Amino acid sequence: MDLQLHGKVAVVTGASRGIGLAVAAALAEAGAKVVAGSRTSGDDLALLAERYPIVAAAVDLTTPDGPATLVERAVLEFGALDILVNNVGGGAAPRLGGFLDITDEDWRQMLDLNLLSVVRASRAALSHLIARGGAIVNIATVNARLPQTPVLDYSASKAAVLNLTKALAEEFGPQDVRVNAVSPGPVRTPLWEGVGSFGDIFARAMGTDTAGLVATLPAQAGITLGRFAEPAEVADLVLFLASARSGMVTGADYVIDGGLLKTIWPGTARIATQANGAARDLPRRAVPQCPAMSTLPARFPNVIGAYAVLPVYSAARMRRCARRCW
Ligand SMILES: NC(=O)c1ccc[n+]([C@@H]2O[C@H](COP(=O)([O-])OP(=O)(O)OC[C@H]3O[C@@H](n4cnc5c(N)ncnc54)[C@H](OP(=O)(O)O)[C@@H]3O)[C@@H](O)[C@H]2O)c1
Repeated sequence: MDLQLHGKVAVVTGASRGIGLAVAAALAEAGAKVVAGSRTSGDDLALLAERYPIVAAAVDLTTPDGPATLVERAVLEFGALDILVNNVGGGAAPRLGGFLDITDEDWRQMLDLNLLSVVRASRAALSHLIARGGAIVNIATVNARLPQTPVLDYSASKAAVLNLTKALAEEFGPQDVRVNAVSPGPVRTPLWEGVGSFGDIFARAMGTDTAGLVATLPAQAGITLGRFAEPAEVADLVLFLASARSGMVTGADYVIDGGLLKTIWPGTARIATQANGAARDLPRRAVPQCPAMSTLPARFPNVIGAYAVLPVYSAARMRRCARRCW
């Protein structure tokens, strides 16, 4: 399928590695010109920039003016803007202490990175996108629908991104700007595998390493397809939504999670109750008393806890559980 992206101008935030790098690479391969923003460039992005019209711009996207500099750079270098991919985001270390341990400063940092970066980049980009008709793609997460204590503030910030996506789609659709979201489940990026990453800290808290976590988590989290997504797979979906081939799609949120989310209705909770560790959906009132997951023979029952049980238990209760599991 020709995505008709040749000659389009795109800004991708958080593009030095992981999903952002894959999106920048895919856009460039499709013939687009790309401004790729992150604090550091990194070897992979530098290599790409040698082969394609990619500008690697150093920027801290949590600052009030950071996101707008990427838009200005695109207009300066390439004369216009057609596509904005709001990819930058992520979390802090897992919030093992629960809600009461998350400070105002923690919340501010989380919202600056995940929500305000989207607000600021979109605000700067919209006049340019309106001028030629354009598209915004926001990278959210399945956690926007799965509030869980270890990623409580991250999940809330991404839920806000989904709400904002819909609101912008409504307001700017009549001016020929489409706004959509992509919600991945676990994707094999440095966020999980890097030293000191979220995945690294999470794995150590469970007495394993990142390789053990990456190998075990898909089955225990109930990912039907049994693996993490690859960044390039997310990039494919982003490119479709950024392209005119999705010209009738706006205000949508595309989940790409290999089947992790089991429900289409709010008000149900996922909990693992099967001996093989697979997750299934139960109405909240049917969740059993103890989240220790005694029926799970798996080595990392707490991973299931992270994905399935946390939404329905208080932080205090999880701490009691954690003394057994973690
Ligand atoms: N990986 C997953 O499992 C997963 C699942 C669902 C959703 N997501 C979402 O997908 C997006 C990308 O995730 P990822 O896994 O690819 O992340 P990643 O591997 O950690 O990469 C994050 C990128 O953002 C940049 N970045 C981080 N903080 C920045 C800042 N303050 N200013 C500018 N750039 C910054 C990083 O470069 P520098 O460090 O050089 O700045 C890097 O290029 C995020 O929004 C994340 O929430 C990821």
